Amino acid sequence: MSMTSTVGRQAREIPFRDIAPTFVRDPLAAVERIGARAGGDIVRLRLGAMSPYLVTRPEHVAHVLSDNAANYEREGWLWNPLSRLVGEPAGKLWWARRAVLQELVSGPSIDRFADEMAVTIVQAVDEMADRGAGGTRLIARREMSRVVFRAITRVLVGDMVTTEQTLRLGRAVTVASAALRPRLLAPFVPNEVPFFGDRTFARALREIDELVLPIVRRAQERGDRPEGHDVVSRLLRATTADGDRFTLRQLRDGLVSLYVGGTETTVIALTFLWVVLGRRTDVQERLTEEIDRVVGEGPLNGSHLRHLTYTKQVALETLRLYPPGWMLPRVIYRDDVIDGVRIDGGGLIVVSPYLTHRLPDVWPEPTRFDPDRFRPGHEPRHRLAYLTFGAGPHGCVGRPFFTAEMQLILAALLSRFRVEVHGDPTARPKLGMTLRPRQEVEISLVPRVRSAGRESPSARS
Ligand code: HEM
Repeated sequence: MSMTSTVGRQAREIPFRDIAPTFVRDPLAAVERIGARAGGDIVRLRLGAMSPYLVTRPEHVAHVLSDNAANYEREGWLWNPLSRLVGEPAGKLWWARRAVLQELVSGPSIDRFADEMAVTIVQAVDEMADRGAGGTRLIARREMSRVVFRAITRVLVGDMVTTEQTLRLGRAVTVASAALRPRLLAPFVPNEVPFFGDRTFARALREIDELVLPIVRRAQERGDRPEGHDVVSRLLRATTADGDRFTLRQLRDGLVSLYVGGTETTVIALTFLWVVLGRRTDVQERLTEEIDRVVGEGPLNGSHLRHLTYTKQVALETLRLYPPGWMLPRVIYRDDVIDGVRIDGGGLIVVSPYLTHRLPDVWPEPTRFDPDRFRPGHEPRHRLAYLTFGAGPHGCVGRPFFTAEMQLILAALLSRFRVEVHGDPTARPKLGMTLRPRQEVEISLVPRVRSAGRESPSARS
């Protein structure tokens, strides 16, 4: 398929007025209708002043996110609101930082972190068990967020903060991200112009900086800690190819972007997991079987990860159905042609993982939940058929981190408890900047009686 010739036909248009009534009632249904009308073709949504292109077919997505990524920018004006939280992209240092982050939260590093992460998660699950004693119902989002912040903080800054500070930082990051939402919906409004959420954002940002900057400063004062393999210590040791080091500000931005990228999405993902397990008790049973077989009497540690294959499949399939980042927008730099369709420079193009994951010729019976789609040796036909973590130069650096975290959380919980899920697990998710469960999901923890008649020590060691 030729992706770049000099001329091309116009993209088929979908006028927004066709979709508007559905959009008001149920935005997710409107997006699904747009997807059905596009049928995998590149289309243009006529939204008035803005007419974004929509791209769903993996081959087209590969062109935008990966093969010709230089023409489809994530920074530009789209980045303005986020830059207030995670800093400006700064040329070669940005890329050097990305390389460091990628190395830090990916494959081999995870092996080093996994044992510490397991201990932290087991402790966090112990505390959750105390709160949930006697069948007390717990709000899944809140509980998952406590675990996630503890796990990521342990890996990012090691022993440099207390649990109390960790949870404060977690709250501040959550508040700051939520307060940014109005601006993310209107990225063309300059940062200098006052806007909704600004005051709350400023307060949360101050709190983040009050917590993060001293950590980085203290680490800088202590000098290189050759033994420190937490992310701050390693960022401090890192240099670009030209020998430049990160400044205090850049170190702070690196840490905050990992917090922002790695927490909200993860919490949403883990909450969706309980939605799915609430309607599929058979899946929870199969997970428990695997966890018992692999972890046994424990203690849970990093070496278990590679054997928790079904656990990983369940996570991937949950996020195929419900990718928190349901759309990935890019600014088009210059005119281009994708598969014979002309793309005009200057406007917006949107890749939609949600819609790609529901193309029936790419994912047969797309709405059916089937973790076996991801069993080893059954990778999807196209490398970009699965887009939950994006792709290309801006793709997620934290995928292995997330997978390990999720496997450990499930193992720590299900080795001790059967988890009952309350509420309406069939409720359709809610569409905003991210895709998230519509209502709070409540869980209760029912202690399991193991065959030996005692609880697994995996969660207590
Ligand atoms: C279920 C969990 C997660 C999901 C669904 C997710 C999804 C994504 C997606 C879709 C992108 C690309 C955005 C784009 O192309 O515009 C991204 C980027 C990113 N993610 Fe994740 N992510 C997850 C977990 C994590 C974790 C655990 C970390 C860190 C430990 C992380 C760190 C990042 C960073 C730093 C970027 C920006 C990369 C760059 O621009 O260079 N993510 N993530």
